[in-house]
Amino acid sequence: MATQTKKPAIRTIASFDIRRYWQSCVEDVEAGLDRWLPSVRTKPATIHKAMRYSLFAGGKRVRPTVCLAAAEACGGKREKALPAACAVECIHTYSLIHDDLPAMDNDDFRRGKPTNHKVFGEGIAVLAGDALLTQAFELLSRFPDSRRYGHREAVAELAKASGSLWLIGGQVADLEAEGKGVSVRELKYIHERKTSALLTASLKLGGMSAGCTPRQLEALDVFGYHVGLAFQVIDDILDVTQTSEALGKTAGKDEAVGKATYPCLVGLEKSRKLAKRLTHQAYESLDVFGKRKEPLLAIAKYLLERSH
Ligand code: IPE
Ligand code: IPE
Ligand code: MG
Ligand code: MG
Ligand code: MG
Repeated sequence: MATQTKKPAIRTIASFDIRRYWQSCVEDVEAGLDRWLPSVRTKPATIHKAMRYSLFAGGKRVRPTVCLAAAEACGGKREKALPAACAVECIHTYSLIHDDLPAMDNDDFRRGKPTNHKVFGEGIAVLAGDALLTQAFELLSRFPDSRRYGHREAVAELAKASGSLWLIGGQVADLEAEGKGVSVRELKYIHERKTSALLTASLKLGGMSAGCTPRQLEALDVFGYHVGLAFQVIDDILDVTQTSEALGKTAGKDEAVGKATYPCLVGLEKSRKLAKRLTHQAYESLDVFGKRKEPLLAIAKYLLERSH
């Protein structure tokens, strides 16, 4: 039997400036969101204020950034991926507004500010989430048709990832697991759905906007699956190890309410190892992009090492 060789450390090209790349994606996405969403003066003003309040509260923009990076990895133009990038950020922000509601995780802080329902009340917070969910599909109607993919495929991708089989399914299982001892297998099921699915869809939509090949689409799927799982493992670790100030949301909440998490099931050390292993698995899927893989590779590493 061959002896197992140790996996090499993730190497990124030293000259590639991930912070600068990330910042430029954030600027493009925020300009797109600002241009395409109704202004705070548009009647009824309350809902547009509430939507923009959470949308522009200072999220990391992980999903739109991977969407733009995937488009570029496939040789596409950023502008063509921008409507999809803005759409996935709307879905994500809506999911956070609802996730924070008293009936769900009951959180008072998000993105360094009071949660949407704390400022606007629960009724408007529910509606702001609904409006962002719908807004996402209006944005997606700007998806550029290419030889391989059109609106039909784009809408199907986003709707499926956000629906009852995936994101919502994961949120349901997460709620139902609260206060119960769940298995590692069940926890993985939750993470695949509540977090990994939207991240994967973001990457695939970016690739599709560039008219990617089926092989590239498959690679984005595998990359997203693993980065998405690693992302939620790290979110759970940071909840234990970071302060509320650093996170911009209340730290230590998971343990306090009996959430199913990896640190609680297997401990911090094993959770860190798992996040690393998942990131390596993601990394291995990128060879199909040749030299263009660098931004995606650097993003996976950056997300593994993040502190908030
Ligand atoms: C938080 O997502 C919710 C999870 C799925 C873990 P992010 O950590 O991407 O939150 P923002 O967008 O930066 O606020
Ligand atoms: C949230 O997961 C996942 C979605 C909103 C779909 P968490 O509940 O762990 O996220 P935080 O910790 O509140 O950001
Ligand atoms: Mg939650
Ligand atoms: Mg939560
Ligand atoms: Mg969390």
